[in-house]
Amino acid sequence: SMHAELEKLLETTSPGPEREASRKDFEGFTNLFHRFLQVKGPSVEWIKIQRPPEDSIQPYDKISARGLPSSVSDCLNKLVVVKLNGGLGTSMGCKGPKSLISVRNENTFLDLTVQQIEHLNKTYNTDVPLVLMNSFNTDEDTKKILQKYTHHRVKIHTFNQSRYPRINKESLLPVSTTMSMSGQSAEGWYPPGHGDIYASFYNSGLLDQLITQGKEYIFVSNIDNLGATVDLHILHHLVSQPNGKRCEFIMEVTDKTRADVKGGTLIEYDGKLRLLEIAQVPKAHVDEFKSVTKFKIFNTNNLWISLAAIKRLQEQKAMDMEIIVNPKTLDGGQNVIQLETAVGAAIKAFDNALGINVPRSRFLPVKTTSDLLLVMSNLYSLDAGSLTMSPRREFPTTPHVKLGSSFTKVQEYLTRFESIPDMLELDHLTVSGDVTFGKNVSVKGTVIIIANHGDRIDIPAGSMLENKIVSGNLRI
Ligand code: UTP
Repeated sequence: SMHAELEKLLETTSPGPEREASRKDFEGFTNLFHRFLQVKGPSVEWIKIQRPPEDSIQPYDKISARGLPSSVSDCLNKLVVVKLNGGLGTSMGCKGPKSLISVRNENTFLDLTVQQIEHLNKTYNTDVPLVLMNSFNTDEDTKKILQKYTHHRVKIHTFNQSRYPRINKESLLPVSTTMSMSGQSAEGWYPPGHGDIYASFYNSGLLDQLITQGKEYIFVSNIDNLGATVDLHILHHLVSQPNGKRCEFIMEVTDKTRADVKGGTLIEYDGKLRLLEIAQVPKAHVDEFKSVTKFKIFNTNNLWISLAAIKRLQEQKAMDMEIIVNPKTLDGGQNVIQLETAVGAAIKAFDNALGINVPRSRFLPVKTTSDLLLVMSNLYSLDAGSLTMSPRREFPTTPHVKLGSSFTKVQEYLTRFESIPDMLELDHLTVSGDVTFGKNVSVKGTVIIIANHGDRIDIPAGSMLENKIVSGNLRI
């Protein structure tokens, strides 16, 4: 009956290319849905999980120690940079694509990406293209903005990921009765996670087009990871593997700290490298999974993948990523689920896959305004679209910042800082309640500022707070 429902839905689209695209989406969705119905029990048996063999996760230092070839541009000419741009800025209180939020000196995530690639192209006299995977949520706004880069030295392509129907949690039937995206009906649809990249890249025709142009690898990353720059050592390592041992997939992982216990980790399973996500872990083993000693590393979602391999696996329908069931409650109160996949979960399908344990600096995600405060501050300096930690910071660790709910939305957060405080010597900052910061404040060591309900705390311009708790009218 799911089939009948989908067919009915399709008929509400006008014929032509739009219906063609919807049909492809439905094919993809039907596949995913059937796999979902077949799944019985957990996708891994805990006792079969093994620590990956020594040489399957290499330290970055070992790879960079080999140095760079004289022909960096030959490597670069095989590369395409792909940014996952399907997500919205909702969690930071913004409308529209997340990539269009300003993060540093009026530059958006997208601006910084374009600057980085342009810098590469100018330095090495190459033409590395940028590909954005948009979703139906981000495509229109992103394309409008792209005009501003027409005179930059970087060719930008886009393709759209799929649009799948949300299904009712009990009946498992689609909640939408029309293909329309206006008003209430928009709630019936979702972009099915970044694992959708393989199918939608292939279906768009862009994958073939790039292969024809002689491109061999993509470097894929989250657009909100400001540390995900093109690393020439990893690229060189990838392209210089001998024939017969061709590495088709590199996952950049990094050492887990107590702050990232929920990230996916690499395991060996059935003789292959595999990504293990917390959602796949049986309840009894969740604490073990979170341990930073047993599972030492996590996936940064910076991935290097062979284009030819994507094409092959897509045509063989061999990608087989684990399904993530994401429950949601719609505005009207209806409980639905959306079926998703993650791009890194495909690692097990590729030949000679490898993990590289990279420095933490390659994982600099901006998920909250607390993250934003760090990257806007003098802890980092900006150079050709890349952020690097200031050499003036004594220890290369990032401070812990926890801003309260009055800071969640970017707009409101910005009004609370006349200028971004000096954070060079900060270890820990917690701010809660109605708090504002005057110009040129500096915070050092551990600083806790708590305005109780109904109170407001204005930190005066020029203040220097060092190992201080500020609460109500009380200053300690
Ligand atoms: P998220 O911000 O949603 O995920 O997307 P996350 O919390 O980092 O965790 P993981 O990586 O999913 O484990 C990460 C990136 O993927 C894009 C977002 O735009 C963001 O850049 N994304 C996500 C898509 O492009 N499409 C999707 O369907 C989901």
